[in-house]
Amino acid sequence: MTTRSFPPGFLWGTAAAAHQVEGGNHGNDWWDWEQQGGILTGDSSDPACDHYHRFRQDIQLLRQMHTNAHRLSLEWSRIEPLEGQFDGGELAHYREVLTELREQGVTPMVTLHHFTSPTWFTRRGGWAASGAPAAFSNFVRRVAMVVGDLPGFWVTLNEPNIYALQGWILGEFPPGRRGDLRGAHRVLANMYRAHLLAYQDLRRLTPRVPVGIAHHKLLFLPAQPRLRDRAAAGLAQALMDRWPTTRGRLQKVVAAPADFLGLNHYTAQTVAFDALHPGRQFMRRSNPPERPTTDFGWAVDANWMRRCLLELIPRGLPVYVTENGIATSDDDMRQRFLLDVLDQVWEAIEAHADVRGYFHWSSMDNFEWARGYSMRFGLVAVDRQTQERTVKSSGHLYGRICRDNQLPLDGL
Ligand code: FCB
Repeated sequence: MTTRSFPPGFLWGTAAAAHQVEGGNHGNDWWDWEQQGGILTGDSSDPACDHYHRFRQDIQLLRQMHTNAHRLSLEWSRIEPLEGQFDGGELAHYREVLTELREQGVTPMVTLHHFTSPTWFTRRGGWAASGAPAAFSNFVRRVAMVVGDLPGFWVTLNEPNIYALQGWILGEFPPGRRGDLRGAHRVLANMYRAHLLAYQDLRRLTPRVPVGIAHHKLLFLPAQPRLRDRAAAGLAQALMDRWPTTRGRLQKVVAAPADFLGLNHYTAQTVAFDALHPGRQFMRRSNPPERPTTDFGWAVDANWMRRCLLELIPRGLPVYVTENGIATSDDDMRQRFLLDVLDQVWEAIEAHADVRGYFHWSSMDNFEWARGYSMRFGLVAVDRQTQERTVKSSGHLYGRICRDNQLPLDGL
C-alpha cells in the first residue's frame, strides 16, 4: 500500500466562525434574526460554546489534536459596535486570542466577514447598500493596523454566493428576502468591491500575510447525460461561481485578485432541466442517487473534493481547503469520511493540485445558523448544559493524521 504522506509543512487545521462559537454577540443581524424567530430550532446563539471566555481551553484542545492552523473570524459588531467607533477592549481580546494561537504553534487564518454584520450597518441596507464596501474597508484597515502582525492568512469574505443566496433568494438567513434577484446582484457586486478594497489595503498594511476568499463550491451535476440537463447544470454552476465586477460583467469568484484560493466544499446536487416550469423554475435540483446523506440531508461523496481541487489548477495559486466536514451524530461516519476525503485531497496533490492545507469544519459542535445546535459538525463535542468539551473519536483520528502528516496505513 502506498504511504499517503502529505507535503512537508502542510497545514492541518480546523475552522470556526465567531458567531457560531463565541456567545454574547448581541450587536449583529443574526442576533436580531434570532429575536424575530429566524432560528428553526428556536435555539439561542448565546452562549453558543462560550468560546469568548473559554478560548484558552479550546486552543489547548486544538494543540492536543496536533493541528498547526486554525481558521477563525473576528466579530465586526464587537470591534465596531457603532459606525466609526472602535472598541479597544475587543481588539485587545482578539490580540489575546491570536497571540495564544501563535504561542501554541497554531497559525491563525483570520476571516474578516463570516456572515454576520453589525446592526448599524444592516439598518442602513447592509451589503445591498452602496456604502457597504467603504464601511467594510474602514473596519478592515483598523483591524490590520491593530492585529495585523498576528494572522498567518487573511480571508476577506466567507462564501459571498451562499450569503447572497440564503439572505436574498431563499430567505433562510437575514435579511430574509425571497426571490430578490436584483438585491442578490447588488450584494455580490458590493462584496466584490469590498474584497478589492480589502485586498489593496491588506497588501499595503500587512504585505507578508497572504489574502484570499473562502469560496463555497457546491457542485452541480447533470441529472442525465443529455444536453438539456448538462446545459441547466452548467448554468447553475456558472451562477454559483460568479459575481458582478465593477464593470458589470460576471467574473469567476476565484479569478478575483488573491494570493491563495480558499475552497469550502461540502456536497453536490444533480440538476434536471424542467420544461414544465420555464423561467425561474426551469431546473429541478436533487441529491445525486445512491450516496449517503448527512443530518443536513447533504449527499456525501469524497470524490467530489478531488474534482473541485483539480478544477482550480489552471488559476495557478496555492489552494487551502478552508472548510469541509459533515453534520452527523454518527461519529463512525465522520471517521470514514475523514479518511476518504483526505485520501482524495492526497490524490489531487499527486495530480499536481497545489493544495497547501486542509481546515476541517469544525473544531467543535457549534451554532449552525438557522439550524441552531441540531447539526453536529465538530471533532469535539460540547455539552450544552455544562459546556464540557469531549474530543470525539474522529478528533483523535484527525489528531493522528495531523501529527504524522499522513493517513494511517491501517485505516480505522
Ligand atoms: C458553511 C459556512 C459555515 C458552516 C458550514 C456548515 O457554508 O461557512 O459557517 O455553517 O457551512
